[in-house]
Amino acid sequence: MKDFSFEPVLAKAKTIPSSWYTDAAMLSLEQAQIFRRTWQLVAHISQLQEVGDFFTCDVAGEPIVLVRSQDGQLRGFFNVCKHRAGPVARDCGRRKSLQCFYHGWTYSLEGELLRAPEFEGVACFDQKDFALDPVRVEQWGPFLFANLDPDAPPLREYLGDIPAETAHIPLMEMGHYKRVDYYIDCNWKVYVDNYLEGYHIPTAHPGLFKEVDYKQYFVETQRYYSKQHSPIRNPNSLYRRDLPSDKEPEALYYWLFPNVMLNFYPDNLQTNVILPLGHDKTVTIFEWYVLNPDKEGWKERFADSFAFSNQVQAEDIEICEYVQRGLRSRSYDQGRFSVKRENGVHHFHGLLCEFLQEGEGVLADKSKP
Ligand code: FES
Ligand SMILES: [Fe+2]
Repeated sequence: MKDFSFEPVLAKAKTIPSSWYTDAAMLSLEQAQIFRRTWQLVAHISQLQEVGDFFTCDVAGEPIVLVRSQDGQLRGFFNVCKHRAGPVARDCGRRKSLQCFYHGWTYSLEGELLRAPEFEGVACFDQKDFALDPVRVEQWGPFLFANLDPDAPPLREYLGDIPAETAHIPLMEMGHYKRVDYYIDCNWKVYVDNYLEGYHIPTAHPGLFKEVDYKQYFVETQRYYSKQHSPIRNPNSLYRRDLPSDKEPEALYYWLFPNVMLNFYPDNLQTNVILPLGHDKTVTIFEWYVLNPDKEGWKERFADSFAFSNQVQAEDIEICEYVQRGLRSRSYDQGRFSVKRENGVHHFHGLLCEFLQEGEGVLADKSKP
């Protein structure tokens, strides 16, 4: 039995034990206690515009289908037929109903079983009892999130002040530009830890260090998310171009517990979803959205920005893979936190302990450093 107690005072705290990053059993516990109880970013609204549009995905190992139902609502279901567990949808598309690929049972877009062919004479069989199990789906701006836990707090509670703080950014007008998946040989938490502090920027990201105002770079923690904020220092920065000169450009980086990152710039944004593929393998899915993606010249202009982001990502991947090897070493177990720079990592470790522990949250009102 692991000890999930947590030291809420940053100056006294230690990082979580190295075995949490290297033990395969830990991942099953995290899937059950964390990934199946939190809001997972699964789709963009452009994927579910019209009645009948559907989209399949995986949430913490569960097959899920999202649909725009007849009444225009967004709904989510387990993509598991009630007959013998076949898939009621594959990939994405538009349909009037969902039909299982195995024996053809048909479900409405609201999840009710409409037709079970050749099932006459089956005892105690009432179609009404065989509806697809629903999954919670909630929307913020263009982003769709799913949560497998019927008792989890609503998405807006997770997001706290983020919608208000980003209200000036035309999220709904930004179109999809590009997706890149990066495969990394490290535990998912190594990557998240790395994202949550700017402490490594001067050493690990010399190029990025020139762009950000490191002295004013700080991390603010909230109940279920943290925010990294930095004015953009370099007047020739990509992010400064085309902005009215009186407007101070800034980069806003939000992380939502446990594995979603939303990086906002004045005219583009990037989402990162960090998914464990094993206890020492992670995929980070980057999606870029830009204003007027069809506008001429975007491709050339964004190419620079993309190359820069790719470089920073390559630097992070390299260090994360080294850290994973270090965590396996018998010479290391737990580290300490910089009070000035690593409050975001400490906050993440607190939420991990809270979710891994059964019962009431230990950190309910102590998430600030
Ligand atoms: S498993 Fe779906 S119809 Fe048989
Ligand atoms: Fe980094």
